[in-house]
Amino acid sequence: MKIVVAQNAGFCFGVKRALDLVARAAEDTSRAVYTLGALIHNPQEITRLRQHGVREVESLDEVTDGALVLSAHGVDPEVVETARARSIEVIDATCPFVKRAHGHIVTLSQEGYSVVILGDKGHREVEGLAARAGRKAEIVTSAEEATALLFRRRYGLVVQTTQRPDALRQVAGALAQRCRELRVFNTICEATVKRQDSARALAEQMDLMIVVGGRNSANTARLREICQSTGTVTYHVETAEEVDVRWLSGARSVGVTAGASTPAWIIEEVTARLRSLAGETGSP
Ligand code: F3S
Repeated sequence: MKIVVAQNAGFCFGVKRALDLVARAAEDTSRAVYTLGALIHNPQEITRLRQHGVREVESLDEVTDGALVLSAHGVDPEVVETARARSIEVIDATCPFVKRAHGHIVTLSQEGYSVVILGDKGHREVEGLAARAGRKAEIVTSAEEATALLFRRRYGLVVQTTQRPDALRQVAGALAQRCRELRVFNTICEATVKRQDSARALAEQMDLMIVVGGRNSANTARLREICQSTGTVTYHVETAEEVDVRWLSGARSVGVTAGASTPAWIIEEVTARLRSLAGETGSP
């Protein structure tokens, strides 16, 4: 059985940067290091950070001293203000591509555009984006939702960094019918586009696709949707143990891709398990 890993898979620049920042902060054991929620959307990597003394808290009220590392997804600016007011050291691991989207939202708001965000409601990055518009932004997940918005003079559209370009095109098209002037910022990051293109190209050639990544990872969910859209049977796993031998029945080729927050060691464990299961079953 042929096992091929997608050309672009696993950790992106922003996630690597966030992990480097938190690792450097944790080296100084004279003070505690906290993250507000999970630093990245990968439970196995978060467990590894915990073993290095990094504590994950749900609220700023749980932090009384030490350093707070902001996640790659960014946070509401109020969190930063409150932390600084309480003399908590803030280490900003927000991905520069997310920051660029923040900047576009601030500009649109200042210039009088009604801000629309294409993104997953409740996702931390999207909440951070909406906060930049003073929480007045409309969040939509589809062209249908954009079509239902009120008619306004000027809409400004910004997109969660991990969305699909085709979804952006559809929402922009729908929004253009709901206003006199539309300004669109394509804030989908390059790492996302590369991972999506590689996943699609591989899925088109393989009998089976395995997408590896956190269940709470938005970009991993997009990769699964893209692989499925090619018609290739696709499974999403978080760990190697979840790969089921029955999935391999009749498959001559298996493609593996992984979300931007999936570490290389998990991808390697998944491919090792696939090789071992293929050996057991005598797959062609
Ligand atoms: Fe940044 Fe894109 Fe990764 S926004 S965190 S480089 S998926």
